[in-house]
This record gives sequence, C-alpha cells and structure tokens, in this order.
Amino acid sequence: MVVSLVATAFWAMLPAYVPNNAAVLAGGGRPIDGGRTWGGRRVLGDGKTWRGTAAGTLAGTLLAVALNAAAPAVSSALGVSLPTFPLAAGVGLALGAMLGDIGASFLKRRSGRERGAAFPGLDQLDFVVGALALAFVVAPGWFSATFTLPVLAVVFVMTPVLHVVTNVGAYLLGLKNEPW
Ligand code: CTP
Ligand code: MG
Repeated sequence: MVVSLVATAFWAMLPAYVPNNAAVLAGGGRPIDGGRTWGGRRVLGDGKTWRGTAAGTLAGTLLAVALNAAAPAVSSALGVSLPTFPLAAGVGLALGAMLGDIGASFLKRRSGRERGAAFPGLDQLDFVVGALALAFVVAPGWFSATFTLPVLAVVFVMTPVLHVVTNVGAYLLGLKNEPW
C-alpha cells in the first residue's frame, strides 16, 4: 500500500522533477525578462532563460514518453500499476514545473531577494504547484484518475525531501551555485 503510493507518486511526478535539473544544465543565454525591471528590480532575473525553460520542458516531456514505454515492465516488476502519460499530461507537468519556478522568481524579486537567494518553502514546492495546476488544466480526467488524495499527500511530503537532496548533490558536484 505505502510502497505503491510512493512508487505512483514518484513516477507520476518524474516529468515535473526533471525540468529544473535540465534547466540548470542547459541554462544560459537570453533571460526571459530581457533585462527589464519593475519597481527597480528585475522582473525575473538572469536565472530564468528561454533556453533553460525550453530545455526543461523538452526534457520532462521526453521523459514522460520514455516512461510510457517503460511502464509495463516496471509495473510488473514492482507489482504496482503505474500511470502512463498522455502527451498533454507530460507537457503540462513539464511546462507547469518551469512556470511554477518562474513564478517563484517573480515573487522573490518582488520581495527584494536577489538571484539565487533562498526562499524556504517556495523553493521546494513552486514547481509542484505549477506542474499539478497545469496538468489539471490540460488533462483533467487523467489528473483526477492519477493524483488521488493519498497520492497528492505523498507528493507534497516527498518532493521537498527529494528537492533538498538533489540540490545539495548538484551543489556538491559544482553544477549549482547554491545548495537550494
Ligand atoms: N535556469 C534557466 N531557466 C529556467 C530555470 C533555470 O536557465 N527557467 C538555469 C539558470 O542558469 C539558473 C539555474 O538554472 O541560474 C538554476 O535555477 P534556479 O535555482 O531556479 O535559478 P537561480 O539562478 O537561483 O535564480 P532565482 O533566484 O530566480 O531562482
Ligand atoms: Mg536558485
């Protein structure tokens, strides 16, 4: 029961987990806000680029396609019926994760936090909220069949833990400038 919930939650969120990491690897180039400011501060900052956003969205979407191919084998190996991703759901999760992260940067700049500053809570959940919200909008039937309340509860507890672990890892590997 618990194993199946955790496996389902992790699997269903993978297309939302990968985009931020892909953006870190692929980021750079023109910032989305084009350098514009609002109220004396950058609208988003140099940490939100077109290239990073596109790469993250593409990576999450391609992962969803790959997971669909792997689902039967992994499901039977684990004895858990893992979800597959209609294209809209994969794109929704991946793009939604990027938009959530962009929204968080917008809020960070409005509250005077410079690029790279930590915003505990927001940093760990911005992409989860963005991914779930967009997936709900573009694939409502799939969303309600996949993200039952127990699965959602696991997502909201498990994701911050995974986020802290992967970001500290990326920091130690020299991929990120800050461990959050
Ligand atoms: N990145 C990107 N485009 C995005 C998200 C991330 O190019 N949409 C890249 C940037 O190189 C960024 C790095 O990934 O610096 C780390 O992402 P993140 O921690 O979200 O950005 P920060 O630089 O910390 O900026 P912010 O304070 O706005 O979160
Ligand atoms: Mg950051």
